[in-house]
Amino acid sequence: MSSIVWNFSAGPAILPKAVLERAQQELLDWQGLGVSVMEISHRSPEFEALVAHMKALLRRLLGLPDTFEILFTTGGGQGQFAFVPMNLLHPEEYADYLITGGWSNRAAREAARFANVHVVADAASNGYTAIPEPSTWSMNAASKYFHYATNETVHGLQFHHVPEVEKPLVADMSSDFLSYPLSFDRFGLIYSASQKNIGPAGLTIVLIRRDWLTNAIRRVPEVFDYKSLASTDSMPNTPATFIWYLSALVFEWLEAQGGVAAMQKKNQRKSSILYEAIDESNLYQNSVEKSTRSQMNVVFDLIKPDLLPRFLEEARGAGLVGLKGHKTRGGVRASLYNAMPEEGVCALIEFMRTFEKKYA
Ligand SMILES: Cc1ncc(COP(=O)(O)O)c(C=O)c1O
Repeated sequence: MSSIVWNFSAGPAILPKAVLERAQQELLDWQGLGVSVMEISHRSPEFEALVAHMKALLRRLLGLPDTFEILFTTGGGQGQFAFVPMNLLHPEEYADYLITGGWSNRAAREAARFANVHVVADAASNGYTAIPEPSTWSMNAASKYFHYATNETVHGLQFHHVPEVEKPLVADMSSDFLSYPLSFDRFGLIYSASQKNIGPAGLTIVLIRRDWLTNAIRRVPEVFDYKSLASTDSMPNTPATFIWYLSALVFEWLEAQGGVAAMQKKNQRKSSILYEAIDESNLYQNSVEKSTRSQMNVVFDLIKPDLLPRFLEEARGAGLVGLKGHKTRGGVRASLYNAMPEEGVCALIEFMRTFEKKYA
């Protein structure tokens, strides 16, 4: 196997090398305490200062208005599929859900266990290759919010604009959080699991409009109740301290890179050179409608599908790992999160061209 390894895994995913090196340096002695960050109390002044620093960094990176609260919690993206309706809806109430791929589909299914889900449109009819035309969306006037996934990690579809609907938006940004600047006006709540652009798996971030932090609509376990999370500085219980610390290092790294606007430029460039290489080739194809192609997860198929196992094996030998498509979709998926440098994408393109010459 090649000595340089590029990790295209969809999540848990690549982390910035500088972050891992810093964590390594600080591992045995954090802030001169003589112990690691993993071994101190989450109630210690040092850890509380880290949490405050993390929130300030995140607010700065996102330009998050003061009308929003930042909550750190656990349970991942799928946890929020349940905790959002549990916190926001009475069992007899409605919410609109737009289905554009595997994850928003699961979000709708989970929400339906807690309240009434109205499916606005379902891209299953086009094989999750395009976002259904907004003019075809059937909205429910009684719905309290409109839920969608900004980026479909499995099917490689991404919104490049904020949907224009009357209801407040609730967005699953698990796979494109912090990869572009955002305007928050139309959002009520945004959530993201950590294992793509935030850090290692284990932290879930919820951004919620402060006026949505009312008394819990119904009984919600205290550790997942938004109001209780807000009133305890996100620490109603012991958090995953090491993951929070690593995420803070990623936020610092991101700021040093020029923030989310700089990331957006890099992400646009990385994904466009890869899509170009796919579109030019006679072996690879991406069937997602061009205007909705994801900048984070580039999915593609081999026109000769029998070559797929060989493609993945030889890619691995060339140091290109984590390229196997999700089990529900198959094919190839190259995830190009913030921490993936353009050099890694160029290495993949070069490999793809050599492979095509050899076998196609
Ligand atoms: C867009 C999206 N939503 C939700 C999830 C589920 O996240 P978790 O595994 O943290 O529950 C994922 C996981 O990859 C995802 O990509």
